[in-house]
Amino acid sequence: MTDFSQFAEPHSEEDRLVRRIDQDRLPRHIAVIMDGNGRWARERRLPRVAGHRSGIRAVRETVEMCARLGVEVLTLYAFSQENWKRPRAEVTTLMSLLREYVRKELDTLLGNNIRFNVIGHLEDLPASAQRELGRAMEQTAGNTGLQFNIALSYGGRTEIVDACRALLLERADPDSLTIESFAEKLYTSGQPDPDLLIRTSGELRVSNFLLWQIAYAEIWVTETLWPDFRRAHLFQAILDYQRRERRYGGLNRSETEHPVVVRHSRRVSISTGSPLRGLARCLPMKRVLTALILGPLVWALLRFAPAWAFSLTVALVIARGVWEAYGILAARGARPLRWLGLACALTVAATFDASTSSDFSLGMSLTLGTIVIAIAAMSARDDPADMLDAMQATLLPVWVVGLTLAHLIGLRSIGDEVGRDLIFLLFLCVMLADIAAYCVGSAVGRRKMAPRVSPKKSWEGAIAAFVISIGAAWLARVWFYPELPLKHALIVGALLGPAGVLGDLVESVFKRAAGVKDSGRLLPGHGGLLDRTDSLLFATPVLYYYSMTFLHGAS
Ligand code: FPP
Repeated sequence: MTDFSQFAEPHSEEDRLVRRIDQDRLPRHIAVIMDGNGRWARERRLPRVAGHRSGIRAVRETVEMCARLGVEVLTLYAFSQENWKRPRAEVTTLMSLLREYVRKELDTLLGNNIRFNVIGHLEDLPASAQRELGRAMEQTAGNTGLQFNIALSYGGRTEIVDACRALLLERADPDSLTIESFAEKLYTSGQPDPDLLIRTSGELRVSNFLLWQIAYAEIWVTETLWPDFRRAHLFQAILDYQRRERRYGGLNRSETEHPVVVRHSRRVSISTGSPLRGLARCLPMKRVLTALILGPLVWALLRFAPAWAFSLTVALVIARGVWEAYGILAARGARPLRWLGLACALTVAATFDASTSSDFSLGMSLTLGTIVIAIAAMSARDDPADMLDAMQATLLPVWVVGLTLAHLIGLRSIGDEVGRDLIFLLFLCVMLADIAAYCVGSAVGRRKMAPRVSPKKSWEGAIAAFVISIGAAWLARVWFYPELPLKHALIVGALLGPAGVLGDLVESVFKRAAGVKDSGRLLPGHGGLLDRTDSLLFATPVLYYYSMTFLHGAS
């Protein structure tokens, strides 16, 4: 077994990553779409070719590291057939960079037992480049280590057409044609298909690259521009690949537990499979409709259900919300200790249920839960980095979802009538603010509030949420909660609007980081329960502590 730790500076980020790579589950073939050279240069006010020149360092590091790790095949997309349309000067520079690279790196290729190969229409290249590349292929032909393919004047569709042409010329028998015999006519004949396709610079396209071969490749996209791509990125890509479940169209043991991830555009949505989904998706103003459906249900629950039934419902909401948060983290490759986290979140909720709830019992349940989770993470994982990941991934939903929503039970336990009024007030403010943010943001939203987290959210929407939340608190006071002094109604409204927007944004951070669009599939057309309760995450504790401090703490 190779000691991977020798590939990185001790205690560096690279060292931490490379040590976690499972040598027995390396991708056999890694394919890379090297993108972003132009943008890299533009960011530095340099000519585009400076980006290509800087990209060579990334090529060198990637080739060398794949060879040392023991990857069988590496294919780099260096020049597509479409790239001939680029300005002549850029094409000329790319060709000379290529010649220079091959000339300078030949010794390294030989020293690392790397077999160099070109795929694509080599004959399109200038004669000098053909000569240089031909020499490198010849001299490395006997090497038995990494097969390094460089795709030049390459097009995936052309490759398939070339394969068909070859078969037609051979007058191949149509009845004996199989997937395997067809693959033998491709440029990568005899090589395993890519297991991992890496693309830099954040674009979610395959750009006519190895179209046939990437049928089951795991795709890993990084925002990093190619000239900045380093070994740490390669290690991260391999680690993420190793965390994924490869199904090849089949089903896995945990199929029912895991969200079905369907990539579309930059984000990923989680398919519901529900017959109502299609109908619900067509409905306009989905937030308004959800509010109209959930509103009466919540109203009935609050008005008629005894405290224990309300607490039970909140516990179920917490369980589902925490579970969905674990699903999101798992889509990111994390491995939380789900059942333990769930137990901890429910214990916290149970602590709030006591109408005598004290800081002591709450603190104790959270602390004990944290300790148990820490011990379990250390016993369940071998590597300290994995232990830390497990602790983080397990505890985060407990705190961000379980603990926050448990304050609903706390609010209810402030007093039978008062508790109900407070929760009505909370729901009214948060729901109306949410609807206002959505409608105003969609209609006139111009200034993006958090484009990296939630591109649709605008400052105009947030201001509308703020104003409407104050109005909703005033309405609550007039409508059903006359005991609430006007001053406090206005302050509470002013706090709940922004707290709701924050909860929404934090949930988006989870989803964005994992590349998922919805938290789950419980509510057809609307995503998961967490998607619909995210605005309550911070608004609930804010109202609880405000009430306990200024309104009802002494009662
Ligand atoms: C895409 O970036 C990159 C290329 C078309 C060329 C890649 C070439 C190299 C890294 C250097 C030479 C390669 C070898 C193997 C020696 P882009 O120009 O499309 O970037 P942009 O999308 O930001 O404009």
